[in-house]
Amino acid sequence: MKLICQKLILVLSFIFFCYCQNAKGQTISNNADNQIEQKVDSVLALMTLKEKVGQMNQYNGSWDVTGPASEVSDKVKLEKLKNGEVGSMLNVLSVKATREAQKLVMENSRLKIPLIIGYDVIHGYKTIFPIPLGESASWDLDIIKKTAIIAASEASAAGVHWTFSPMLDVSRDARWGRIMEGSGEDPYLTSKIGVAKIQGYQGDDLSKNNTIAACAKHFAGYGFAEAGRDYNTVNIGEHELHNAILPPFKAAAQAGVATFMNSFNELDGIPATGHKILQREILKEGWKWDGFIVSDWGSIGEMIAHGYAKDKKHAAEIAANAGSDMDMESYAYEGYLEELVKEGKVDLALINDAVKRILRIKFKLGLFDDPYKYCNEEREKTEIYTEENQGFSREVAKKSIVLLKNENNILPLNKDVKSIAVIGPLADDKDTPLGNWRAKGETNSAVSVLEGIKNAVSPTTKITYQEGVRILTEEYPKGRGFLMPLNFSHDDISGIPAAVNAAVNADVVVLVIGEVALQTGEGRSQTNIKLVGKQQELLEAVYKVNKNVVIVLMNGRPMDITWAANNIPSILECWHLGSQSGNAITDVLFGDYNPSGKLPVSFPYNVGQEPLYYNQKMTGRPYNETHVTFSAYRDAPKTALYPFGYGLSYTTFVYNNLTIDKNEISPDGEIKVSVDVTNTGKRDGEEVVQLYIRDLVGSLTRPIKELKGFEKIMLKVGETKTVNFTINEESLQFYTINKIWEVEPGDFELWVGGNSSATLKAAFKVVD
Ligand code: NOJ
Repeated sequence: MKLICQKLILVLSFIFFCYCQNAKGQTISNNADNQIEQKVDSVLALMTLKEKVGQMNQYNGSWDVTGPASEVSDKVKLEKLKNGEVGSMLNVLSVKATREAQKLVMENSRLKIPLIIGYDVIHGYKTIFPIPLGESASWDLDIIKKTAIIAASEASAAGVHWTFSPMLDVSRDARWGRIMEGSGEDPYLTSKIGVAKIQGYQGDDLSKNNTIAACAKHFAGYGFAEAGRDYNTVNIGEHELHNAILPPFKAAAQAGVATFMNSFNELDGIPATGHKILQREILKEGWKWDGFIVSDWGSIGEMIAHGYAKDKKHAAEIAANAGSDMDMESYAYEGYLEELVKEGKVDLALINDAVKRILRIKFKLGLFDDPYKYCNEEREKTEIYTEENQGFSREVAKKSIVLLKNENNILPLNKDVKSIAVIGPLADDKDTPLGNWRAKGETNSAVSVLEGIKNAVSPTTKITYQEGVRILTEEYPKGRGFLMPLNFSHDDISGIPAAVNAAVNADVVVLVIGEVALQTGEGRSQTNIKLVGKQQELLEAVYKVNKNVVIVLMNGRPMDITWAANNIPSILECWHLGSQSGNAITDVLFGDYNPSGKLPVSFPYNVGQEPLYYNQKMTGRPYNETHVTFSAYRDAPKTALYPFGYGLSYTTFVYNNLTIDKNEISPDGEIKVSVDVTNTGKRDGEEVVQLYIRDLVGSLTRPIKELKGFEKIMLKVGETKTVNFTINEESLQFYTINKIWEVEPGDFELWVGGNSSATLKAAFKVVD
């Protein structure tokens, strides 16, 4: 009898186990979520109002290994940490510093609620990867995810729990300095990349010690600053907001991003930080997202300057009611939130909601189980800036390079070439490739192009190097250089003759020009997107004596390179490619890697075309055949110099046999699209096959083309592959006049090709 009972128990346990494992895989995570919710509630129940407000308070920490700096404000911060009046800190780095900060809370505060520590790990922690705009040019979601995995593992090894990345601001304006920090002008591409980054940072289990919380920012509209001037007003209609700006954020919310950050800008008169519709109605209620929103740095207080709040107390009231859960460096919540609750101006239920959101993420990170779980000296020593991570940095960097022009197949160069002149202000620059937002990337730690070339060529190749001209008039400011103004228009031309001399005698010139790292990034908007300083003079002088010029362009934004495009035979777009920049560029220059990058932003003929983007509207006057009264410029084309999605290879690809399996579908139907792509050149290569659609007539006007699918494929010489896409409800729907996402019946067109100017076309209908 006993035996039978034992067996029965075993069988029942097994059935229960299978039930949990298989059919209800979800049940396990639901149970885990339920457990977290219970824990969150039980902690909340113990908290005083002051402690609740404390959780909503985030401080910057000027922490170093010897403890906090000795400014008075830091002393105050220290006391508040001990009192449990701080929920989070940013910019506290290293195992030692994060441990000390955490200890203050854990050993002194009443409830011992661990801190969550955040940092701007934007394109790597110490191993620096290409700037996000550059990385996006790879159109390779696997490697993009992997850079986030590595960034998370390095950051977590240094005690960091949370990155303020990815930036999901669709940006159409080359003047905007922060265009470098996003994935360019397209909402679909930005969504896909954003999700890949989030999955990379967070993994499938936030509680692992090598995953960190991600942050979808800046919610919302920040990339649409008028005239590309950072922090400027954003005026955008509700439909455009939903159709062009919000999709990447919605994808992030659905992918389970732990946090959001709101933005500095106003949106049609309402600062995003105080925007209730955005934060409460759309994000929290509409998308049912349960993470927390951190304000941007001081953005609660900035509502005073906006003219939206009369003082800090008013700003705190507006932000808390609108759904900003955590105050980054405005000191508004800590100053006034308790009072506002007591006065009935902010409902306690809203405070409870914000605190629950914050606690939830802390529980998910496992910080309640072990507040020091990210504090591991051994990991800090062995897992940061490893050779393996460097190797991957080179891998992703070479995949991010875009070949813009290659007349007469100047590229790839032969490694036995007799002589190369390596010229330009960025040729031996070991700092610029690190780009802006380089976290703990060490100044001057990147491989320069000159070094990369020296590493690669045969011993008999003669290399001459000349700087020619300079971009910066002074050395980079040290320390918090990222905040300093720069004087970057150097007008000294005395180095040009030596550069010309080097060029005259060389078989080929590699000219490395563009923008220094801090010309882009926060607060680095420019009205001039040409080569600054005397770089253009250098370029023309060199070209006069040697036509075999390859431009290696380093930059964080689309630039006006029209002269170069008209004259110079070969141009490589090399962004700011990170730690291994020079080696990666050399891999492409000498053909060890066949370039496969495609532009995530349109390059204009000149700045006057900005904002310029491929998915613009038709207008009522689109044609330019016979008359002047059409929507165009009299002095420049209206199209891009290099369009979105564009990029060449050392081989050629031909597209054939575009087929669709139906000509008519219902709004919830599906169309299978296929196309044959053949490598018709002499090298193996990768191609990004892109699918675009157009909804011809809508309840609202629709873009002339919209990216709806892409696949990066490798093709051997002579090989043909069939690439398949599916068009479905998700591809066809938009935020319509009815203020919902729906598919409208009518005629559609689709294109497949290697960039947004693709001409291979088909048509179909959606019928009710
Ligand atoms: C301001 C920036 O806008 C934001 O992106 C960043 O994460 C915070 N500062 C914190 O450094």
